[in-house]
Amino acid sequence: MAPTSPSKQHARFSNSSVAFAREREVVPGGSMRNATWFAPHPPYAAKGTGCWVEDIDGHRFLDCANNFFSLIHGHAFAPVVEAIGATVGNGTAFGLPTEKEIALAQLITSRSPSCEQIRFCMSGTEAVMFAVKGARALTGRSAFAKFEGAYHGSYDWVEVSLAPDPDAWDDQSGNPASIGGSESVPKHVLDDTIVLPWNDPSRCAAILAKEGSRLAGLIIDPVPSRAGMVPVSREMIDVIHTAREKHGFLIISDEVISFRLSYAGAHPLFGLRPDLITLGKIIGGGMPIGAVAGGAHAMAVFDHTQGKARVALGGTFSANPLAMAAGLAAMTALDEPTIARLNQLGSDLRAAINLAFIERRIPAQVTGSGSLFRLHLTSKPITDYRSCRAPAPKTLQAVHAGALDYGVLLTPNCSGAISTPMDSASIDQLTAALTQAVADAFTRQPWEKWPGAGSGQGG
Ligand SMILES: Cc1ncc(COP(=O)(O)O)c(C=O)c1O
Repeated sequence: MAPTSPSKQHARFSNSSVAFAREREVVPGGSMRNATWFAPHPPYAAKGTGCWVEDIDGHRFLDCANNFFSLIHGHAFAPVVEAIGATVGNGTAFGLPTEKEIALAQLITSRSPSCEQIRFCMSGTEAVMFAVKGARALTGRSAFAKFEGAYHGSYDWVEVSLAPDPDAWDDQSGNPASIGGSESVPKHVLDDTIVLPWNDPSRCAAILAKEGSRLAGLIIDPVPSRAGMVPVSREMIDVIHTAREKHGFLIISDEVISFRLSYAGAHPLFGLRPDLITLGKIIGGGMPIGAVAGGAHAMAVFDHTQGKARVALGGTFSANPLAMAAGLAAMTALDEPTIARLNQLGSDLRAAINLAFIERRIPAQVTGSGSLFRLHLTSKPITDYRSCRAPAPKTLQAVHAGALDYGVLLTPNCSGAISTPMDSASIDQLTAALTQAVADAFTRQPWEKWPGAGSGQGG
């Protein structure tokens, strides 16, 4: 398919343009979710099957966004459809527990020795919020540490320094400053959130030596998607473990996205020994879900049977039977060979695109781990949030739009995930489409500066 210029997009996506105009009248910004919006407006989805999504103008896209990495089996996965069908007629939510919640709890706890117990909630944001509250109750402290640029959902504390601008990066001592993730953040939240530089063990050790005794916990996503999708280093893990031993705070491994990386989640791959683990996305099989899991000792903070719970973890729709049934079907199908196949496809994709960039002397690269990938428009090393901050944002937008024109849906920051309906033909298609979309964007946006351009190093 020949790429379409942005000016032709209105004609090409005419039904979506009309839908967007209608939505704008009743919804601020014309979108229910910030993350799913991109200019001039996204195509509106009509339906999805396997790794394909169709919009209301009849275009078909190879879906690498997968509702932000939540659909590991793609759309309308038959076992999930059957499980929901068999459940929905018996009622969708009760003010009572169901046996389905036991089954999903047993399945997830059986996969990871670090997850002795689990509680379900409705989203990754909720899971992180409950884990943070749990750590506070267990330690009697309030401050938290997180990594610059790492996304953990919308709870005030973990939104700090999600996307700070370069002029606000450092505090007076040259360490990452605590910058509110939105204008609503109260000042005391900033004072109580310690921001750490990613994969910089010596600076992290120094910051934790100073602040560790006031920390309730430290939250870490081992492969932070927004901060570059660069896996955590062994040295960083050692620093975090040592600081926990000294100061007695809790480590929360946020695996809302990265749980997919191995059968037991992300932390064992990197030697991380968390106290609590936050989950979401794939464990709900496409239905809304979140979960806090961990060792029985830490999870006891949510036990309400000894008088009152130290932290109340509830929610009207938490552990609803539809999410439990869908999650059980999806996770049962996600066995070790399946994860190994996905991870292999992911590493084939990264290798093929990076090779194509080198061969075509395009200063760009792909990072990621397992079945996750992210495009960067620079050949300089991507190590953290600062180095991954889009050097040429308009061109990144053009790559995203170009990928759509070539029939591939990425997230707006040009990241994506492999799903089980994909195969090596999908990897070939993705490699061709993404390489060409980047090459086109470089040609079309000559006015933007390209750090690393002309070096011939593709990453
Ligand atoms: C690492 C991580 N934690 C937490 C969240 C929040 O999850 P949710 O969108 O389900 O609230 C996300 C969402 O993308 C995430 O990537």
